[in-house]
Amino acid sequence: MAKKTIKDVDLKDKKVLVRVDFNVPLKDGVITNDNRIVAALPTIKYVIENGGKAILFSHLGRVKTEEDKAGKSLKPVAERLGELLGKPVAFVSETRGTELETAVNNMKDGDVLVFENTRFEDVDGKKESGNDAELGKYWASLGDVFVNDAFGTAHRAHASNVGIASTGIPTVAGFLMEKEIKFVGEAVTAPKRPFVAILGGAKVSDKIGVIENLISKADKILIGGGMTYTFYKAKGMNIGKSLVEEDKVELAKELIEKAGDKLILPIDSITAAEFSNDVPTEEHTGDVPDGQMGLDIGPESIALFAQALEGAKTVVWNGPMGVFEMSNFANGTIGVCEAIANLADATTIIGGGDSAAAAIQLGFADKFTHISTGGGASLELLEGKELPGLAAINDK
Ligand code: 3PG
Repeated sequence: MAKKTIKDVDLKDKKVLVRVDFNVPLKDGVITNDNRIVAALPTIKYVIENGGKAILFSHLGRVKTEEDKAGKSLKPVAERLGELLGKPVAFVSETRGTELETAVNNMKDGDVLVFENTRFEDVDGKKESGNDAELGKYWASLGDVFVNDAFGTAHRAHASNVGIASTGIPTVAGFLMEKEIKFVGEAVTAPKRPFVAILGGAKVSDKIGVIENLISKADKILIGGGMTYTFYKAKGMNIGKSLVEEDKVELAKELIEKAGDKLILPIDSITAAEFSNDVPTEEHTGDVPDGQMGLDIGPESIALFAQALEGAKTVVWNGPMGVFEMSNFANGTIGVCEAIANLADATTIIGGGDSAAAAIQLGFADKFTHISTGGGASLELLEGKELPGLAAINDK
């Protein structure tokens, strides 16, 4: 990587500021998926094993008002981290002030501290999200070196990533950031070929940037999920009651023309009369009849996609093939997961978000080379955009 990493700095006796992405799902104060905490462990362990004091911080959810703070404290996250590390993790319930400063100054080498949700600073005029210079300077003043390991937040230019780095404090990437850039970034910039991208999800509008960027980079682009039907409509096919983005039909037409043979659409659908798992399903090749809506790709499409994946050396998958949360419409996503899992000698990457959740939920997590922890960040990387959080890290 062209950026400095944690291995390029001396951590001994240093106060090491570590920006992590601990924006994890919580239900009634209980963490329902701790992947992002687990993914940050290598960096945290490296800091403490090398004699540093680890001062961790993250955002959690979106906070605009005092009421929004409810249920968004990082306290349960600090507790979970303590369990995973098998050692005490101090939690400071403020984002600035004497309690935080005293706790930091009393840390011993190898100690770990988490301070409160950085977005609590947004209540008083978007200081965190607005990349307030004073706030970035204040947080930077708490440490000697800044490790940015928050890949999931790298597409944001906030005080806790870009702001701190802009003060001139030595800024390096953590292991997770490095790994994400290696897999997701290099898939687009230096893929082993053939490079096949599989894009799903409900809306074309979410994936336009990715499709446009990948048209010139991928060898094949397979499309599935709800956005299929906007492409079907663009081809003049019948889509029944399927989801469609009318204002994107023209664009879908242009993408089909531009991509030519590279773009592969499903050839059959699993449909139902309603968006429900409790109504009979039908299987249709090509057009979706009136009164029906396409909710998954069908078996012929799964076979077509599996064939298109044969021999691939790099595969990037983003977005489920159908409404996988409902068992009647999960087969397309399972089939594609299986087809990718069976590839020999390929680098296989899931670009975060729903497809990562689907692969994990379906038990395929260990079958992929890399499952990204970043939804928006990995999409922007696949779009070919520069990520501000990454750009702010010191060059090697
Ligand atoms: C994410 O979950 O995608 C990141 O943590 C960024 O969160 P945000 O979309 O609220 O900025």
